[in-house]
Amino acid sequence: MRSSSPTSSSDSYSPAVSTAPSTPPPGLAASFCLILHDASPAFLAALPVSKSSSDRVLLCRGAGPVKPLLSAAADLLGEKAILDDARWERVCAKDNDSEITYYTSKESISSIDEKPAVVLDAISCDSTPASHAAMLNLFSEAGLRSVVAFPSPAASLYVLERPALTFPLLSSTPSSALNPTANPYTMPSLDEFERGWAIWDLITSNMIPAELLHSKPIDLRHKPLFYIGHLPTFANILLSRLIKATPVGPRSYLTTFERGIDPSVDDPDHCHSHSEVPEKDEDWPVIEDVLAYRDEVRGRVIKRILGELESGERKLTRRLARTLMMVHEHDGFHIETLLYMLIQRAGTGMLPPPGFASPPWAALAAQWDATPAPSTPTVTLGPCTVTMGHDDQEPDDVLPALQHDVAAHEFGWDNESPPRAVEVGAFRVDWRPITNGEFEAFWRGAGKGVVDMPASWVLDEDEDEDGSGVQVRTLYGPVPMAYARHWPVLTAYDDLAAYAAHKGGRIPTEAELRLFLDTYQVGYEQGANTGFRHWHPLPATAGLEDVDGGRGSNGGVWEWTATALDAHPGFEGTGIFPGYSSDFFDGKHQVVLGASYATIPRLGDRRTVRNFYQHNYPYPWVGARVAYDV
Ligand SMILES: [Fe+2]
Repeated sequence: MRSSSPTSSSDSYSPAVSTAPSTPPPGLAASFCLILHDASPAFLAALPVSKSSSDRVLLCRGAGPVKPLLSAAADLLGEKAILDDARWERVCAKDNDSEITYYTSKESISSIDEKPAVVLDAISCDSTPASHAAMLNLFSEAGLRSVVAFPSPAASLYVLERPALTFPLLSSTPSSALNPTANPYTMPSLDEFERGWAIWDLITSNMIPAELLHSKPIDLRHKPLFYIGHLPTFANILLSRLIKATPVGPRSYLTTFERGIDPSVDDPDHCHSHSEVPEKDEDWPVIEDVLAYRDEVRGRVIKRILGELESGERKLTRRLARTLMMVHEHDGFHIETLLYMLIQRAGTGMLPPPGFASPPWAALAAQWDATPAPSTPTVTLGPCTVTMGHDDQEPDDVLPALQHDVAAHEFGWDNESPPRAVEVGAFRVDWRPITNGEFEAFWRGAGKGVVDMPASWVLDEDEDEDGSGVQVRTLYGPVPMAYARHWPVLTAYDDLAAYAAHKGGRIPTEAELRLFLDTYQVGYEQGANTGFRHWHPLPATAGLEDVDGGRGSNGGVWEWTATALDAHPGFEGTGIFPGYSSDFFDGKHQVVLGASYATIPRLGDRRTVRNFYQHNYPYPWVGARVAYDV
């Protein structure tokens, strides 16, 4: 028995006569904490579990014996030793004002003749049942994430790791002098910027080996090195222009890294205005210089401005707040777009996300196979009026009455404003997006020769398209279709529209999908698979009418709509980043709504956010559901 962090006290246990085996069992590869009480976020945050390691928290919730749950975890983790009484010791500690006991694994057994202090068969969990979403929120607040859970009606066991980072809940946005009402959609704080930078750096510095920096995982996009220079350049140009300062770093970077590309899929020579980049690898800046530039922009532009605002040296205006929001959310969008490019090289060059355990696919797939389906595949919505967008017109920024009105304001991109009422007729819509399994059957059957194999899939080397060797790309490398068949399929709008037509339906309009998402889609805080809780999609959960009225997650993907991006009544294009939306009013870009597993919560949960991709662009993490006329 020992005392340990969190706050500990002594224990009165005295070892008795040994009945332990004479040969100690194999040791543990990592350390474990077994938690049986209603733990607070602060308690869990302080547990001695190393970040980005194999250490695990085994947290039971509910009432019931612990040993059967531990057995399941032991099988999964390949750590039979956690079933050995002698590997555990009790720790008496405090969680807030409560005296509690938890258990830690011992690095070694001190004496093989010593009777174990802990008898796992005698330990039960007795904590307050909580919803899965509530547990996920608890973990996010404590800097933990669930690798796998073993749910049961009586007691559940969560296997938790301390990953490289987690996103806090938007509702826990702290109030500050600049954000007294703790508004999650006002100007981002330094903490928000730093979290975005942390995940960007995790990806760019750890998942892209040097040989991939100059590769093009997708021909229609730039090489990864461009994007590493692009994010700081976007910030450098927008903010320096606004505060009338000279941009930092080499002047040539301002043109090389200024703007990415979205050429026509049909005619790649046709592209909106963008940076002209060097043709030869050797003519690009070296990565070390680009990283130094990135740090210079963060320190001498963004942090400097935030510091001046904090100290009162610089007065906060709505225009400056908007520009900072655009810089931060531009980072957020690019985190995801870089990943959907890199996933094309997962298993063939790109490295998996460090500090996030590789998913136990077989165990998870067994659980997903048991995911219940809705009792009816569709739900009927409408007729009704849907209010799209919010009141955030950029020209208002300079009105004398509003120019300093920031703290209570919800910022967005130009295409999110102004609010507008849209009439939606009655329609039926699938509870869940089209899955990999459903699309595979179509692609092999009625859709053969009509639709392409999704870019989110890959064929085994030894298989042709008639074989059974389809795998689904993940950031950990391709996995068998059997593991991913319940996930939403990610592919081009055109091919999903063909699937919908085959089913006698169509892709919903933007207003129809907005109505469905408003009514039934949960956000990050209600357990959605967004904000990097996982680095892969999950099966959708909506449509179980006995659970939260049918509300659930779509599995962590954006969704295509049948609505082409265009100017709407009252649209005012941004002057801060001209052409952000209007360059794509070409009839070729579909509006997409929602959020993927790699969308930051601020973008994923703001209901007015709209993204857009070309109808025949197959790479982004966008799925679709089928709607039907009534
Ligand atoms: Fe960009």
